[in-house]
Amino acid sequence: MFKKILGTIICAAIACAALTGCAGSGKKKVGISMPTQDLQRWNQDGSYMKEKFEAAGYEVDLQYAGNKADVQLSQIEDMINTGSKVIVIAAVEASSLGQALDKAAKKKIPVIAYDRLLMSNENVSYYATFDNYKVGQIQGEFVRDALKLDSTDGPYNIEFTAGDPGDNNAGVFFQGAMDVLKPYLDSGKLVCVSGQTDFDSVATTKWDSATAQARAESIIGSYSNKNIDAWLCSNDSTAQGVVTALDSSYNSAGRNGQWPIITGQDCDIVSMKNMLAGKQTMSIFKDTRTLAERTVIMVNDILAGKTPETNSEYDNKAKQVPSYLCDPVFADINNYKTILIDSGYYSEADLA
Ligand code: BGC
Repeated sequence: MFKKILGTIICAAIACAALTGCAGSGKKKVGISMPTQDLQRWNQDGSYMKEKFEAAGYEVDLQYAGNKADVQLSQIEDMINTGSKVIVIAAVEASSLGQALDKAAKKKIPVIAYDRLLMSNENVSYYATFDNYKVGQIQGEFVRDALKLDSTDGPYNIEFTAGDPGDNNAGVFFQGAMDVLKPYLDSGKLVCVSGQTDFDSVATTKWDSATAQARAESIIGSYSNKNIDAWLCSNDSTAQGVVTALDSSYNSAGRNGQWPIITGQDCDIVSMKNMLAGKQTMSIFKDTRTLAERTVIMVNDILAGKTPETNSEYDNKAKQVPSYLCDPVFADINNYKTILIDSGYYSEADLA
């Protein structure tokens, strides 16, 4: 008899955990679905969010999808089935999670698109990100100013490497940069020797460094005696691939001893080290602590029945998603100490 009662209590507790997300702790559960642990930034995003959500009294179910859309889909379905009250998603592929988003909606579980917009589904409650167009714009303006396109004759040679076509951000970054640089391509002051200037030709599946490197190597091979003056890379992982390609197969003496201007974003440790070695010229600091904090504020408001603060909205092809855009910050060798070290993001030792 006693065993039976005990069994009933245990079953009830398990059911409570599954259905309400209280997991026996009385805490509300937040599901966090991150794309991959291969890149530094998602590890940081994941761990900052876990830390901040736990500090705010939540239980956290943090999962990484190994850059596989089908794995992410089943991880999110698992979060729905095990009682997450809110799910935060940085998608591997922007349009492939519809099935899970519909299930979440049926259970009235709000979904926050994190950093990357979830596309073509109306069951996206909010979007927390950085101003991605501005990221590309800052990169494009940097190239314009570093090459002095407005005050020298040129022409200058430039190549482009963009991000993953499955990630909505990739097109936005590229557009931001191209809106600045296209007039110079049109006037002939900038020349793209490979001729590859449209997003589809310059995209990098899964933002993979080795893929960016392989494409860069074949482009460099076609340059013979010409200089490469700039290489617009949409982020640090692609910039790292281009730098490795230049390192191994480009005679930098061939362009008057100067390394090309290379852009990036994320301020990854590897890229910061490349920057200190003169091989990447700039990056963009997107303080993942700020984005994590913003996401916690959003979730607190949603669960308290309040409308979270937003400062923009994005069309995801199914609805206008209320969005909060954080500010990206230009980073180079001159300001990295202030923005990265003094702010406690990295220690000197991290970059040594
Ligand atoms: C993020 C970038 C990141 C890239 C590759 C994008 O969605 O906004 O910060 O470099 O994905 O992971």
